[in-house]
Amino acid sequence: MRKGKIVTMDGEEVIISVRIKSPRPGQFVTLILPGIGEFPFLIADYKKGNLKLKIHSRKIREEISNRKVVYIKGPLGSPIKIGRSVLLLGENDSLSELEFIINYCKSKGIKLRIENNMSVKGEEDTVIITSPDYARRADRKRVYVYFRNVKMNCMLGVCGECLVGGKLVCKDGPFLKI
Ligand code: FES
Repeated sequence: MRKGKIVTMDGEEVIISVRIKSPRPGQFVTLILPGIGEFPFLIADYKKGNLKLKIHSRKIREEISNRKVVYIKGPLGSPIKIGRSVLLLGENDSLSELEFIINYCKSKGIKLRIENNMSVKGEEDTVIITSPDYARRADRKRVYVYFRNVKMNCMLGVCGECLVGGKLVCKDGPFLKI
């Protein structure tokens, strides 16, 4: 767990100055607010000690705005193995969380296609679906499904609260091949 300082808050976007291990695409951190709780967030960006999170909850943002110091645990979870081409399927609000993955693909010259029509089928090496509602279509070899709203407790692969299809979202995910 690392101590972090709030640098800026702009709408849902919160920048926290904190030293953590360099994250890989698909990993998350937890934000710890002592006396309130621990909350998981996908990493939106991490550069030069500045961690960007997109925090949709107004209640959590209000809690943060009253504090100078927060605590961060992570990066947690398993990175996505990204191939030479990527298809992202999702609605706008879920895609906004995938900034880190999108920027990673752009920085590595990986071919990236983004579609908000969930019925699109692509030939890309890696397909990322942002909603478990569409998991039935998943082809285990190349499709990752993002489990964004799964209830978690320990977030360390210990309690079993986040079990989905025999996998732990907090440890094996939150992007799972199912
Ligand atoms: S939250 Fe405890 S195992 Fe995932």
